[in-house]
Amino acid sequence: MTQPLDSVTSAAPAEGGDLEGKHIVLGLSGGIACYKAAELARALVKAGATVQIVMTEAAEQFITSVTMQALSGRPVFTSAWDTRDVDGKANSMAHINLTRQADAVLVAPASADFMAKLLHGRADDLLSLLCLARPIETCPLLLAPAMNREMWAHPATQRNVSLLRADGTHFLGPDSGEQACGEVGDGRMLEPDQLLEELIGFFRPKPLAGKRVLITAGPTFEPIDPVRGITNLSSGKMGFAIARAAAEAGAEVTLVAGPVHLVTPRGVRRVDVRTALQMAEAVIPLAPTQDVFVATAAVADWRPTSLAEQKIKKNGSKVAPIFELTENPDILAAVAKMALVEGRPFCVGFAAESHDLLKHSREKRERKQIPLIVGNLGPATFGRDDNALMLVDAQGHRELPPANKLTLARWLIADIAQRLTSMEIPA
Ligand code: CTP
Repeated sequence: MTQPLDSVTSAAPAEGGDLEGKHIVLGLSGGIACYKAAELARALVKAGATVQIVMTEAAEQFITSVTMQALSGRPVFTSAWDTRDVDGKANSMAHINLTRQADAVLVAPASADFMAKLLHGRADDLLSLLCLARPIETCPLLLAPAMNREMWAHPATQRNVSLLRADGTHFLGPDSGEQACGEVGDGRMLEPDQLLEELIGFFRPKPLAGKRVLITAGPTFEPIDPVRGITNLSSGKMGFAIARAAAEAGAEVTLVAGPVHLVTPRGVRRVDVRTALQMAEAVIPLAPTQDVFVATAAVADWRPTSLAEQKIKKNGSKVAPIFELTENPDILAAVAKMALVEGRPFCVGFAAESHDLLKHSREKRERKQIPLIVGNLGPATFGRDDNALMLVDAQGHRELPPANKLTLARWLIADIAQRLTSMEIPA
């Protein structure tokens, strides 16, 4: 194997604490989305971060500092004239001290007015003051815009957004949809869980920056008639976790998903399919443009040769119908064949076995002619949030210990990134 297990393990944080050790200044400017900031503060704390709330006067019209203090567990700052100590410093300079220990300032909600103020370096309240006074190299600024769709679309706001971006400000969202005013369009603040996912991803290392990763996930459904079909117990969770981990690592990710009801990871392009043939149609044309292909889907090996147009009824004869089956294309084997000629994508297969994991994984890797296969015990993991993996390549095998699927996915992505690096020819 190219990488010792220890270094793989250290690539992911402890489970349940994705923001462990991070200190976040969470700023609230005025907007109805302040109610979402309450849940965000709670989620950040739950993820292990320490959260320092700073509110503008307008934000206090929408939610009280008492609520935010209770949720963050720290006194809230609202005024530039606040003389309380910050981190033991009693120099009455809250606007300086508040960001000196911070890993990031996240303003959620960021109103149109607050963004306009930031753009011009104006600093007439504590939150804008501390944004201007933060150490720009070590304390990034992230904004989660929240405003009416007309305000968001206005040339002035769009101009401000592009100039703020040029200044190094990161934008999380906004989302599109129903707005508090009753209108529908762009400008909604992202939901707290989406902001949390974005922030966690923001802090992750980016070893796959500039790379394209294609992933298949979930089961396929092979219809017999309009109401029945052949499928399997794959939940798609492992594939979705890998898609999230690859996106966090900076890759441009396409996820071809069979029929599952899972939330698409942030920043991932999702293509929904139902059958193995549809999955093959989505994957094969894309594959040559990809750097990595990870096949986690539990593709049905067979499909009914013909599809009954109407529901097959019991006809009273007690004779069960017999279905003729046709073999589905092997998507992974087809991409692997392509990769042998083109030199890419780097193909990673999955082997879901019930026994003799190493033996079957080895055989499958050789049969499919892929550099890496990931073995797991199917019946023990289908539908669950945790798993244990065995990485098998031409040199040997390594076990990734039981962990939640996102942690395992991050280890796997770190391993794949290292393999890509070691394959690159030095300039
Ligand atoms: N795969 C695929 N297309 C198929 C079948 C499988 O891309 N038609 C991929 C899966 O996504 C997985 C790997 O191939 O990465 C699994 O290999 P396979 O030999 O098909 O596994 P099983 O179906 O479990 O094989 P067996 O029944 O022989 O154990």
